[in-house]
Amino acid sequence: MSYFSPDTASTLAQRIDVIFLGLLALSGAILLLVFCLVVGFSIRYRRGSPAPRGPMPALVSREFEIGWTSATLFLFVFLFWWGVSIEITAFVPPNDAIDVQVVAKQWMWKTLHANGAREINELHVPVGVPVRLAMRSQDVIHSFFVPAFRLKQDVVPGQVHEAWFQATKTGVFHLLCAEYCGTDHSRMRGRIVVMPPDDYAAWLSAQPEGDDLAKDGAQLFVERGCSGCHAPSSRVHAPSLAGLYGRSVALSDGRTVPADEAYLRDSILQPRKDVVAGYEPIMPSFSGRLSEGEIQSLVAYIRSLAKESRP
Ligand code: CUA
Repeated sequence: MSYFSPDTASTLAQRIDVIFLGLLALSGAILLLVFCLVVGFSIRYRRGSPAPRGPMPALVSREFEIGWTSATLFLFVFLFWWGVSIEITAFVPPNDAIDVQVVAKQWMWKTLHANGAREINELHVPVGVPVRLAMRSQDVIHSFFVPAFRLKQDVVPGQVHEAWFQATKTGVFHLLCAEYCGTDHSRMRGRIVVMPPDDYAAWLSAQPEGDDLAKDGAQLFVERGCSGCHAPSSRVHAPSLAGLYGRSVALSDGRTVPADEAYLRDSILQPRKDVVAGYEPIMPSFSGRLSEGEIQSLVAYIRSLAKESRP
């Protein structure tokens, strides 16, 4: 495959290659069939040939027409199902995935591991382990593109995009930006370094410490005044955040939403969008008052509260 396409280095890449080659072979077979019929008929029915030109033979019956029309219909419905099923699994990360935060900005990729290790234009991951990416943009639309993983996800400012991959090979793979994002778009490149799990663990523990995301978040939580209302001891009537992450939340308009990263982020920036049932919409918006990095830290802190409160 390597002459015609990049390495096949993730579970998704393997599945995409099968569907790509399958479609290529099918299209090639149909092309060949049509081509042969065109050539065959143009020789058989050339001017002056004695081939019969009378009415159609009885062979082409109504059943035959219905048969081949429905056969092709089922074939194409199958192709649709095949493609969609791959696309759906491509967006649902397994539960045991390790978490990596990605921030795109003009013109670099910043990555952030759960223990606070930070990288720029690089991402170290273990082989054979699913990795979940939560991606944000600080300025314009970028697109996280790893050809060897067949992974491409637009990163739109103001939203959190989720993607995941599981590398199947160790090595170094290109990370590109696939959305024109300004002057140095073409230089917005990085490397994905896939390592054996032991090497990865050693690499991770060798990263500078004291940089823990959730710890930063805990500090911001007090500094920015969140604790004034959300601390368990607070007199203001605000929802407790302990054990919140990953739960379902009942809202005052009757909806129920999962408390995921996007929900926490929205609740900080647009508190009136999803008001928790039984509470007044009194929280001020922090839009423009927190950087993407600070929001990340706060969300990491709130997630860490969920882990602590679980048995
Ligand atoms: Cu970022 Cu192109």
